Amino acid sequence: MARITYVSPEGAEDTVDAQEGSTVMQTALNNNIRGIVGECGGNALCATCHVYVDEAQFDGLPPIADFEEEMLDVTSSPRKDNSRLSCQISVTAAIDGLIVRLPETQE
Ligand code: FES
Repeated sequence: MARITYVSPEGAEDTVDAQEGSTVMQTALNNNIRGIVGECGGNALCATCHVYVDEAQFDGLPPIADFEEEMLDVTSSPRKDNSRLSCQISVTAAIDGLIVRLPETQE
């Protein structure tokens, strides 16, 4: 189990429990977090699960794969140095306390 905090563009925070084996995207959908769409179901094909990872935690995540890299170039909101696709972040105990900020738009 891990706790994840989602921060809306307006600054509202939602902290939820995430199950290991899930993803940061799926956890958002399960908890009705607004701002994550996940149109492709987590297959790194839509970029509607774009998030900005807290800068201090970014380097602790698994590296960005080539296919994620390509999709990060077509996000609706601007890509930043701390952009990730939340469907490509697996929930493990190692990400407990993760904070992700939601972009202005996914579409
Ligand atoms: S859910 Fe489609 S790229 Fe993440």
